[in-house]
Amino acid sequence: MPVSLKNNIFWVGYVDWSVRDFHSYDTVRGATYNSYLIRDEKTAVIDGVNENFVDFQLHRIAALTTLDKVDYVVCNHTELDHAGSIPELLKALPNATLLCNAKCYEEMKLYFDTTGWRVKVVSPDETVSLGKRTLAFVNTPMVHWPESMVTYVPEDELLFSMDAFGQHIATSERFDDEYDLGTILTEAKLYYANIVTPYGKQVQTTLDKAKGLKISMIAPAHGLIWRKNISAILEHYQRWSLGEYSPKALILFDSMWHSTEKMAEGILQGAADSTPDVDTQLMNVRRTTLTRIATEMLDASAVAIGSPTLNMMLMPQMAAVLTYIKGLKFTQKTAFAFGSYGWASAGCDQCDKWLDELNWTRLCDPIKIKFRPDQAALQQCREAGKKLAEAAKARVAK
Ligand code: FEO
Repeated sequence: MPVSLKNNIFWVGYVDWSVRDFHSYDTVRGATYNSYLIRDEKTAVIDGVNENFVDFQLHRIAALTTLDKVDYVVCNHTELDHAGSIPELLKALPNATLLCNAKCYEEMKLYFDTTGWRVKVVSPDETVSLGKRTLAFVNTPMVHWPESMVTYVPEDELLFSMDAFGQHIATSERFDDEYDLGTILTEAKLYYANIVTPYGKQVQTTLDKAKGLKISMIAPAHGLIWRKNISAILEHYQRWSLGEYSPKALILFDSMWHSTEKMAEGILQGAADSTPDVDTQLMNVRRTTLTRIATEMLDASAVAIGSPTLNMMLMPQMAAVLTYIKGLKFTQKTAFAFGSYGWASAGCDQCDKWLDELNWTRLCDPIKIKFRPDQAALQQCREAGKKLAEAAKARVAK
Protein backbone atom coordinates (compact mmCIF):
# COMPACT_ATOMS: atom_id res chain seq x y z
CA MET A 1 0.00 0.00 0.00
CA PRO A 2 1.67 3.27 -1.07
CA VAL A 3 2.27 5.80 1.69
CA SER A 4 0.50 9.07 0.93
CA LEU A 5 1.84 12.39 2.26
CA LYS A 6 -0.92 14.55 0.78
CA ASN A 7 -3.52 13.97 -1.90
CA ASN A 8 -1.64 12.36 -4.81
CA ILE A 9 1.78 12.79 -3.22
CA PHE A 10 3.48 9.54 -2.22
CA TRP A 11 6.69 8.15 -0.69
CA VAL A 12 8.66 6.01 -3.17
CA GLY A 13 11.95 5.61 -1.29
CA TYR A 14 13.88 2.73 0.26
CA VAL A 15 14.40 1.66 3.86
CA ASP A 16 17.94 0.40 4.41
CA TRP A 17 17.68 -1.74 7.52
CA SER A 18 21.22 -3.07 7.24
CA VAL A 19 23.50 -0.07 6.73
CA ARG A 20 25.73 0.54 9.75
CA ASP A 21 28.43 2.68 8.17
CA PHE A 22 27.41 5.69 6.12
CA HIS A 23 30.67 7.16 4.84
CA SER A 24 32.18 6.45 8.27
CA TYR A 25 29.17 7.73 10.19
CA ASP A 26 27.64 5.04 12.44
CA THR A 27 24.06 4.36 11.45
CA VAL A 28 23.10 2.10 14.32
CA ARG A 29 19.41 2.40 13.48
CA GLY A 30 19.87 1.95 9.71
CA ALA A 31 18.71 4.63 7.27
CA THR A 32 16.16 5.56 4.65
CA TYR A 33 16.66 7.18 1.27
CA ASN A 34 13.42 9.07 0.78
CA SER A 35 12.02 9.78 -2.64
CA TYR A 36 8.58 11.13 -3.43
CA LEU A 37 6.16 11.06 -6.35
CA ILE A 38 3.67 13.80 -7.19
CA ARG A 39 0.82 12.76 -9.46
CA ASP A 40 -0.84 15.72 -11.19
CA GLU A 41 -1.46 16.63 -14.83
CA LYS A 42 2.23 15.99 -14.99
CA THR A 43 4.04 13.53 -12.75
CA ALA A 44 7.26 14.27 -10.93
CA VAL A 45 9.63 12.15 -8.86
CA ILE A 46 11.55 14.05 -6.21
CA ASP A 47 15.09 12.67 -5.78
CA GLY A 48 16.67 9.31 -6.33
CA VAL A 49 17.97 6.76 -3.84
CA ASN A 50 21.25 4.90 -3.39
CA GLU A 51 22.00 3.20 -6.73
CA ASN A 52 21.80 -0.28 -5.19
CA PHE A 53 18.12 0.21 -4.53
CA VAL A 54 16.85 1.67 -7.79
CA ASP A 55 14.77 -1.45 -8.52
CA PHE A 56 12.84 -0.94 -5.29
CA GLN A 57 12.27 2.72 -6.15
CA LEU A 58 11.06 1.84 -9.65
CA HIS A 59 8.75 -0.81 -8.23
CA ARG A 60 7.11 1.78 -5.97
CA ILE A 61 6.83 4.26 -8.84
CA ALA A 62 5.28 1.61 -11.09
CA ALA A 63 2.64 0.89 -8.43
CA LEU A 64 1.44 4.48 -8.78
CA THR A 65 1.76 5.24 -12.48
CA THR A 66 3.02 3.79 -15.72
CA LEU A 67 6.69 4.54 -16.15
CA ASP A 68 6.25 6.46 -19.41
CA LYS A 69 3.93 8.92 -17.61
CA VAL A 70 6.67 10.34 -15.40
CA ASP A 71 7.53 13.78 -16.78
CA TYR A 72 10.15 15.00 -14.33
CA VAL A 73 12.81 13.73 -11.97
CA VAL A 74 14.03 16.42 -9.57
CA CYS A 75 17.57 16.11 -8.23
CA ASN A 76 18.02 18.33 -5.19
CA HIS A 77 21.50 17.07 -4.29
CA THR A 78 24.25 15.21 -6.16
CA GLU A 79 25.51 13.05 -3.29
CA LEU A 80 25.24 9.43 -4.31
CA ASP A 81 22.82 8.30 -1.62
CA HIS A 82 20.28 10.34 -3.61
CA ALA A 83 21.66 10.88 -7.10
CA GLY A 84 23.01 7.32 -7.37
CA SER A 85 19.81 5.89 -8.86
CA ILE A 86 19.20 8.74 -11.29
CA PRO A 87 21.00 7.28 -14.35
CA GLU A 88 18.95 4.06 -14.08
CA LEU A 89 15.79 6.04 -13.33
CA LEU A 90 16.22 8.15 -16.45
CA LYS A 91 16.71 4.96 -18.50
CA ALA A 92 13.55 3.41 -17.07
CA LEU A 93 11.41 6.56 -17.32
CA PRO A 94 11.54 7.24 -21.08
CA ASN A 95 9.78 10.60 -21.01
CA ALA A 96 11.33 12.08 -17.90
CA THR A 97 13.32 15.31 -17.89
CA LEU A 98 15.82 15.88 -15.09
CA LEU A 99 15.24 19.12 -13.16
CA CYS A 100 18.27 20.37 -11.29
CA ASN A 101 20.24 23.55 -10.75
CA ALA A 102 23.30 24.47 -12.80
CA LYS A 103 25.80 23.39 -10.15
CA CYS A 104 24.09 20.04 -9.75
CA TYR A 105 24.16 19.43 -13.49
CA GLU A 106 27.86 20.32 -13.58
CA GLU A 107 28.52 17.75 -10.85
CA MET A 108 26.25 15.11 -12.42
CA LYS A 109 28.37 15.30 -15.58
CA LEU A 110 31.42 14.50 -13.46
CA TYR A 111 29.77 11.50 -11.86
CA PHE A 112 27.82 10.02 -14.77
CA ASP A 113 27.70 9.76 -18.52
CA THR A 114 24.81 12.14 -19.11
CA THR A 115 24.74 11.64 -22.89
CA GLY A 116 21.15 11.47 -24.06
CA TRP A 117 19.66 12.81 -20.81
CA ARG A 118 16.87 15.35 -21.09
CA VAL A 119 17.82 18.05 -18.61
CA LYS A 120 16.19 21.33 -17.66
CA VAL A 121 18.43 23.49 -15.52
CA VAL A 122 16.30 25.46 -13.09
CA SER A 123 17.18 28.74 -11.44
CA PRO A 124 16.15 29.66 -7.90
CA ASP A 125 13.42 32.04 -9.02
CA GLU A 126 11.99 29.58 -11.50
CA THR A 127 8.90 27.43 -11.06
CA VAL A 128 7.67 24.41 -12.97
CA SER A 129 3.93 23.78 -13.20
CA LEU A 130 2.63 20.25 -12.78
CA GLY A 131 -0.99 21.35 -13.40
CA LYS A 132 -2.72 22.12 -10.11
CA ARG A 133 0.62 22.23 -8.35
CA THR A 134 3.87 24.10 -8.75
CA LEU A 135 7.45 23.09 -8.05
CA ALA A 136 9.48 25.99 -6.69
CA PHE A 137 13.22 25.64 -6.17
CA VAL A 138 15.27 27.22 -3.41
CA ASN A 139 19.04 26.92 -3.48
CA THR A 140 20.57 26.04 -0.10
CA PRO A 141 24.30 25.97 -0.89
CA MET A 142 26.48 23.95 1.53
CA VAL A 143 23.52 22.36 3.27
CA HIS A 144 25.34 20.34 2.74
CA TRP A 145 27.01 20.40 -0.72
CA PRO A 146 27.48 23.41 -3.02
CA GLU A 147 24.60 22.44 -5.31
CA SER A 148 22.10 21.56 -2.56
CA MET A 149 18.61 22.86 -3.08
CA VAL A 150 15.14 22.18 -1.72
CA THR A 151 11.86 21.92 -3.62
CA TYR A 152 8.69 23.55 -2.35
CA VAL A 153 5.11 22.90 -3.38
CA PRO A 154 3.15 25.99 -2.27
CA GLU A 155 -0.30 24.53 -2.97
CA ASP A 156 0.37 21.75 -0.43
CA GLU A 157 2.63 23.82 1.86
CA LEU A 158 5.08 20.97 1.45
CA LEU A 159 8.86 21.34 1.60
CA PHE A 160 11.08 18.58 0.20
CA SER A 161 14.06 19.55 2.33
CA MET A 162 16.75 17.17 1.05
CA ASP A 163 19.30 16.33 3.80
CA ALA A 164 18.13 19.17 6.05
CA PHE A 165 16.01 18.01 9.01
CA GLY A 166 16.84 14.37 8.20
CA GLN A 167 17.71 11.51 10.53
CA HIS A 168 19.14 8.05 9.92
CA ILE A 169 16.41 5.71 11.14
CA ALA A 170 15.17 2.58 9.42
CA THR A 171 11.52 2.11 10.28
CA SER A 172 8.24 1.02 8.75
CA GLU A 173 6.71 4.30 9.93
CA ARG A 174 7.00 7.35 7.72
CA PHE A 175 5.74 10.23 9.87
CA ASP A 176 7.05 11.91 13.02
CA ASP A 177 3.77 11.34 14.89
CA GLU A 178 4.07 7.58 14.36
CA TYR A 179 7.48 7.20 16.07
CA ASP A 180 9.04 8.20 19.37
CA LEU A 181 9.80 11.91 19.09
CA GLY A 182 12.72 11.75 21.52
CA THR A 183 14.45 9.17 19.34
CA ILE A 184 13.81 11.16 16.17
CA LEU A 185 15.29 14.30 17.73
CA THR A 186 18.25 12.34 19.11
CA GLU A 187 18.97 10.98 15.64
CA ALA A 188 18.38 14.40 14.05
CA LYS A 189 20.98 15.83 16.46
CA LEU A 190 23.43 13.05 15.64
CA TYR A 191 22.88 13.73 11.92
CA TYR A 192 23.32 17.48 12.38
CA ALA A 193 26.46 17.12 14.51
CA ASN A 194 28.23 14.76 12.14
CA ILE A 195 27.14 16.16 8.78
CA VAL A 196 25.84 19.70 9.03
CA THR A 197 27.83 21.35 11.87
CA PRO A 198 30.43 23.12 9.67
CA TYR A 199 27.65 24.91 7.79
CA GLY A 200 25.84 26.66 10.64
CA LYS A 201 25.82 30.03 8.83
CA GLN A 202 24.33 28.45 5.72
CA VAL A 203 21.72 26.70 7.87
CA GLN A 204 20.81 30.08 9.31
CA THR A 205 20.32 31.42 5.77
CA THR A 206 18.18 28.39 4.92
CA LEU A 207 16.06 28.88 8.04
CA ASP A 208 15.55 32.53 7.08
CA LYS A 209 14.36 31.43 3.65
CA ALA A 210 12.03 28.85 5.25
CA LYS A 211 10.45 31.60 7.38
CA GLY A 212 9.05 33.10 4.19
CA LEU A 213 7.24 29.86 3.29
CA LYS A 214 4.01 28.44 4.66
CA ILE A 215 4.98 24.91 5.66
CA SER A 216 2.60 22.22 6.90
CA MET A 217 4.93 19.32 6.12
CA ILE A 218 8.68 18.84 5.76
CA ALA A 219 9.70 15.77 3.78
CA PRO A 220 13.45 15.23 4.19
CA ALA A 221 15.57 12.83 2.16
CA HIS A 222 16.30 10.71 5.25
CA GLY A 223 14.11 9.43 8.05
CA LEU A 224 10.73 10.48 9.33
CA ILE A 225 8.58 13.12 7.62
CA TRP A 226 7.73 16.09 9.82
CA ARG A 227 4.01 16.86 9.95
CA LYS A 228 3.32 17.30 13.67
CA ASN A 229 6.54 18.58 15.23
CA ILE A 230 7.68 21.03 12.56
CA SER A 231 8.29 23.84 15.03
CA ALA A 232 10.34 21.48 17.24
CA ILE A 233 12.78 20.51 14.50
CA LEU A 234 13.05 24.11 13.25
CA GLU A 235 13.81 25.30 16.80
CA HIS A 236 16.45 22.60 17.24
CA TYR A 237 18.10 23.55 13.94
CA GLN A 238 18.05 27.15 15.08
CA ARG A 239 19.83 26.27 18.33
CA TRP A 240 22.34 23.90 16.76
CA SER A 241 23.21 26.26 13.93
CA LEU A 242 23.76 29.12 16.36
CA GLY A 243 26.12 26.88 18.34
CA GLU A 244 24.16 27.22 21.58
CA TYR A 245 25.70 25.48 24.58
CA SER A 246 24.30 23.17 27.22
CA PRO A 247 25.84 22.98 30.70
CA LYS A 248 27.88 19.99 29.63
CA ALA A 249 31.51 18.99 30.08
CA LEU A 250 33.23 16.14 28.23
CA ILE A 251 36.33 14.36 29.46
CA LEU A 252 37.96 12.59 26.50
CA PHE A 253 40.88 10.30 27.20
CA ASP A 254 42.95 7.40 26.01
CA SER A 255 45.16 5.40 28.33
CA MET A 256 47.83 2.69 28.17
CA TRP A 257 48.22 1.46 31.77
CA HIS A 258 45.22 3.24 33.36
CA SER A 259 47.17 6.24 34.70
CA THR A 260 45.62 8.78 32.34
CA GLU A 261 42.32 6.99 32.96
CA LYS A 262 42.69 7.52 36.72
CA MET A 263 43.36 11.21 36.05
CA ALA A 264 40.22 11.36 33.89
CA GLU A 265 38.20 9.79 36.69
CA GLY A 266 39.60 12.32 39.14
CA ILE A 267 38.53 15.15 36.84
CA LEU A 268 35.07 13.59 36.56
CA GLN A 269 34.77 13.25 40.32
CA GLY A 270 35.78 16.88 40.87
CA ALA A 271 33.21 18.08 38.33
CA ALA A 272 30.38 15.82 39.45
CA ASP A 273 30.86 16.42 43.20
CA SER A 274 31.17 20.18 42.96
CA THR A 275 28.71 21.00 40.18
CA PRO A 276 26.15 18.20 39.79
CA ASP A 277 23.88 20.30 37.58
CA VAL A 278 26.52 20.12 34.83
CA ASP A 279 26.20 17.02 32.64
CA THR A 280 29.76 15.69 32.85
CA GLN A 281 30.59 12.73 30.63
CA LEU A 282 33.65 10.49 30.61
CA MET A 283 34.57 9.14 27.17
CA ASN A 284 37.28 6.60 26.51
CA VAL A 285 38.02 7.45 22.88
CA ARG A 286 38.91 3.84 22.07
CA ARG A 287 35.53 2.69 23.38
CA THR A 288 33.38 5.51 21.97
CA THR A 289 32.68 6.08 18.29
CA LEU A 290 33.61 9.30 16.52
CA THR A 291 29.92 9.70 15.68
CA ARG A 292 28.92 9.64 19.35
CA ILE A 293 31.75 11.94 20.44
CA ALA A 294 30.79 14.50 17.78
CA THR A 295 27.14 14.34 18.80
CA GLU A 296 27.92 15.08 22.43
CA MET A 297 30.45 17.72 21.37
CA LEU A 298 27.82 19.73 19.47
CA ASP A 299 26.45 21.51 22.54
CA ALA A 300 29.19 20.80 25.09
CA SER A 301 30.67 23.93 26.61
CA ALA A 302 33.84 22.57 28.25
CA VAL A 303 36.20 19.73 27.37
CA ALA A 304 39.21 18.01 28.95
CA ILE A 305 41.48 16.05 26.61
CA GLY A 306 43.87 13.44 27.97
CA SER A 307 46.50 11.25 26.39
CA PRO A 308 49.67 9.49 27.51
CA THR A 309 52.70 9.40 25.21
CA LEU A 310 53.19 6.66 22.66
CA ASN A 311 56.39 6.82 20.57
CA MET A 312 56.69 10.57 21.30
CA MET A 313 53.18 11.16 20.03
CA LEU A 314 49.69 11.42 21.47
CA MET A 315 47.65 8.22 21.21
CA PRO A 316 46.50 7.55 17.65
CA GLN A 317 42.78 7.34 18.38
CA MET A 318 42.93 10.67 20.22
CA ALA A 319 44.59 12.16 17.12
CA ALA A 320 41.72 10.78 15.04
CA VAL A 321 39.13 12.30 17.38
CA LEU A 322 40.82 15.71 17.36
CA THR A 323 41.14 15.64 13.57
CA TYR A 324 37.46 14.73 13.19
CA ILE A 325 36.18 17.41 15.56
CA LYS A 326 38.45 20.06 14.02
CA GLY A 327 36.88 19.37 10.62
CA LEU A 328 33.41 19.71 12.07
CA LYS A 329 34.29 23.24 13.29
CA PHE A 330 32.49 23.12 16.60
CA THR A 331 31.98 26.40 18.35
CA GLN A 332 34.48 27.47 20.94
CA LYS A 333 34.83 25.44 24.12
CA THR A 334 36.75 26.01 27.34
CA ALA A 335 39.30 23.23 27.62
CA PHE A 336 42.49 21.84 29.08
CA ALA A 337 44.83 18.91 28.42
CA PHE A 338 46.05 16.23 30.78
CA GLY A 339 47.97 12.98 30.67
CA SER A 340 50.46 10.72 32.34
CA TYR A 341 53.82 9.90 30.82
CA GLY A 342 56.91 7.80 31.41
CA TRP A 343 59.90 9.87 30.28
CA ALA A 344 58.49 12.43 27.84
CA SER A 345 55.21 14.34 28.10
CA ALA A 346 54.78 14.67 24.33
CA GLY A 347 51.27 13.14 24.27
CA CYS A 348 49.84 15.62 26.75
CA ASP A 349 51.80 18.50 25.22
CA GLN A 350 50.38 17.71 21.78
CA CYS A 351 46.84 17.62 23.22
CA ASP A 352 47.53 21.07 24.69
CA LYS A 353 48.69 22.36 21.28
CA TRP A 354 45.51 21.02 19.73
CA LEU A 355 43.53 23.53 21.79
CA ASP A 356 45.03 26.27 19.59
CA GLU A 357 44.23 24.26 16.45
CA LEU A 358 40.64 24.02 17.61
CA ASN A 359 40.56 27.70 18.55
CA TRP A 360 39.29 26.81 22.03
CA THR A 361 39.90 28.76 25.21
CA ARG A 362 42.54 27.23 27.49
CA LEU A 363 41.22 26.87 31.04
CA CYS A 364 44.59 26.08 32.64
CA ASP A 365 48.04 24.71 31.95
CA PRO A 366 48.16 21.02 31.02
CA ILE A 367 48.23 18.58 33.95
CA LYS A 368 51.15 16.24 33.38
CA ILE A 369 51.87 13.38 35.77
CA LYS A 370 54.92 11.11 35.60
CA PHE A 371 53.90 7.42 35.70
CA ARG A 372 50.98 6.84 38.10
CA PRO A 373 49.02 9.71 39.71
CA ASP A 374 49.40 9.76 43.51
CA GLN A 375 46.86 11.24 45.91
CA ALA A 376 48.23 14.76 45.42
CA ALA A 377 47.98 14.39 41.63
CA LEU A 378 44.44 13.07 41.88
CA GLN A 379 43.51 16.03 44.06
CA GLN A 380 44.95 18.31 41.36
CA CYS A 381 42.72 16.52 38.83
CA ARG A 382 39.63 16.89 41.05
CA GLU A 383 40.30 20.61 41.39
CA ALA A 384 40.66 20.91 37.61
CA GLY A 385 37.39 18.98 37.21
CA LYS A 386 35.64 21.48 39.48
CA LYS A 387 36.99 24.36 37.39
CA LEU A 388 35.95 22.58 34.21
CA ALA A 389 32.34 22.20 35.38
CA GLU A 390 32.21 25.80 36.58
CA ALA A 391 33.54 26.93 33.20
CA ALA A 392 30.86 24.83 31.46
CA LYS A 393 28.16 26.61 33.43
CA ALA A 394 29.73 30.02 32.94
CA ARG A 395 29.87 29.62 29.15
CA VAL A 396 26.15 28.77 29.02
CA ALA A 397 25.36 31.83 31.14
CA LYS A 398 27.23 34.20 28.76
FE1 FEO B 1 21.97 12.33 2.14
FE2 FEO B 1 24.30 14.75 1.52
O1 FEO B 1 23.38 13.16 1.27
